[in-house]
Amino acid sequence: MAKHVRIKPLESFEDFEKLLHIQRVVWKHEDLDLTPVHQFAVSSRMGAILLGAFVGPELAGFVYSFPAVFKGESCQHSHLLAVLPEFRGYGLGKALKWAQREEAVKRGYRFVTWTYDPLQTRNANLNLQALGAVSRTYFPNFYGLTPALCLGPGIPTDRMLIEWSIRDRRVKSRFEGKARKPVFDDAALPKAQARKPGGEDPFHRPGRPNLRLDDEVVLVEVPRDIKALAGRPDLIAEWQTGLRRTMTAYFGRGYVAEHFIFGDSSFYVLKKG
Ligand SMILES: CC(C)(COP(=O)(O)OP(=O)(O)OC[C@H]1O[C@@H](n2cnc3c(N)ncnc32)[C@H](O)[C@@H]1OP(=O)(O)O)[C@@H](O)C(=O)NCCC(=O)NCCS
Repeated sequence: MAKHVRIKPLESFEDFEKLLHIQRVVWKHEDLDLTPVHQFAVSSRMGAILLGAFVGPELAGFVYSFPAVFKGESCQHSHLLAVLPEFRGYGLGKALKWAQREEAVKRGYRFVTWTYDPLQTRNANLNLQALGAVSRTYFPNFYGLTPALCLGPGIPTDRMLIEWSIRDRRVKSRFEGKARKPVFDDAALPKAQARKPGGEDPFHRPGRPNLRLDDEVVLVEVPRDIKALAGRPDLIAEWQTGLRRTMTAYFGRGYVAEHFIFGDSSFYVLKKG
């Protein structure tokens, strides 16, 4: 991007108002589902981290986290990350997350957490690959059947909890651009869930999960682009049900989602904890 990018704290009502616009554009939320100005106002004075990415004079995206408790320890829980569509793919999302990390480290935290829909593969790639976070917790229907947050009518709002150990070497090396991209042989590795053979792209069905594998590394397939299944809520529900069963079983046995393979076939990479 030719224009100058700056990441800085958002503190004025004028900026908070702009966050309503960004939420409407990015998530197409009704007013009832927006995080309101008064929430940004109170929490940013009371320990939240609220940062904006400016491209020239324009607010192109933001990240918002608030103080929370994770396993008995104070952390920041990141609730919103958004970049306007015309500014995507230039690194702003990552820049916002790294700035959030820097501020959280400065304030003495060890963890930033957040949840995301595990069928959103780009987010999986951002969280597990680009940022070096991990997940070991699956929440079925985390937000209830809030229509704005569902992948389709009546589809539960399943989420995975992200743990970002912001002082760990795994995360630091990604920040410094020193992490080697791990290579996984997805054809050879055992799969706890995979598409059924046949089926026309992108409308594959998931096969029956295999919940008994005991290997060090296990793959779990998800559709590459869940949005391409928008007209097929039955298929979305099938993949979600399979993923829920698989992740719940393997997380319950101590496996951790550590990597994501984003390809024509996309997989979570689970490692024995
Ligand atoms: C998620 C979002 C903030 C990313 O913003 P962005 O400025 O486009 O992100 P970046 O350019 O910094 O890319 C960040 C990472 O996202 C992932 N990503 C971005 N585009 C991708 C693509 N086409 N395919 C796969 N991964 C992609 C990659 O991991 C990428 O890192 P990499 O370049 O090192 O591989 C933006 O897409 C958005 O606002 N989405 C809607 C809201 C949302 O999903 N919020 C996050 C909830 S967890």
